[in-house]
Amino acid sequence: MNDTADTKKEFLPPTQRFFGRRKGPSLSDRKQGLMDGLLPRISVQIPEGDDDQIDLEALFGAKKAEVWLEIGFGKGEHMAWQGQHNPDKGMIGCEPYLNGVAGLLTQIEEQGIDNIRVYGDDARHVLWKLPDASVDRVFLIHPDPWPKKRHARRRFVNPDNLNEIARVLKDGGEFRVGTDHPIYREWTALQMSAREDFEWQAKEPSDWLVRPDDWPETRYEVKALEGHATYFRFTRLVRK
Ligand SMILES: C[S@@+](CC[C@H](N)C(=O)[O-])C[C@H]1O[C@@H](n2cnc3c(N)ncnc32)[C@H](O)[C@@H]1O
Repeated sequence: MNDTADTKKEFLPPTQRFFGRRKGPSLSDRKQGLMDGLLPRISVQIPEGDDDQIDLEALFGAKKAEVWLEIGFGKGEHMAWQGQHNPDKGMIGCEPYLNGVAGLLTQIEEQGIDNIRVYGDDARHVLWKLPDASVDRVFLIHPDPWPKKRHARRRFVNPDNLNEIARVLKDGGEFRVGTDHPIYREWTALQMSAREDFEWQAKEPSDWLVRPDDWPETRYEVKALEGHATYFRFTRLVRK
């Protein structure tokens, strides 16, 4: 996608803009119907005031013991699975690729899932507006690897985004990153090892080489052209 206008564009440097694509093939009538009918009912609205934050209780219509956030859900297989298997949790999924959003809506409708809320744009807009220590899990499953060195600043795992993820996670909360790309694996390990607010949970290789039972395979992972997937799980350490 080209650099797109976003709400903070004027006061954000170019490194803060979104890179990716928003549109693919035109949608079927059914999917367009879900975009027009279902999406507005389960959309996350970004509050406009500088100091305004997302009201999670209002978003889910009830206080949820836990809130989980997925960044870049693609066609939504992981998001729908988590929603269906954790009906007591509130789930927020962010994905700017509109055909992906339509894919998730189809699963939400077919499976009768009612605990997922959707933001059809850059996940950072949501991150910036979530209250401190309000989220229990953040999923970043196969982020775009941007393997070329000159594109490294586009990688979602970067100090600015990690600061935001650390801010919104509760103490003891979990940050999951899945990648099949060797460059992104090394990049993530390096970025995360530099942090004092996260701890890698792995004790032995099987902890990151074997897919956990509660981590379903995504469409992208099935393609996994770049090799073996890595399943990173980091704990947000207790605030000092
Ligand atoms: C390689 S795909 C993986 C999709 C999905 N997680 C899977 O495993 O099938 C990466 C996804 O991240 C999305 N993405 C990239 N930047 C994003 C951002 N700033 N906020 C939310 N999603 C983003 C892309 O649109 C794309 O769908």
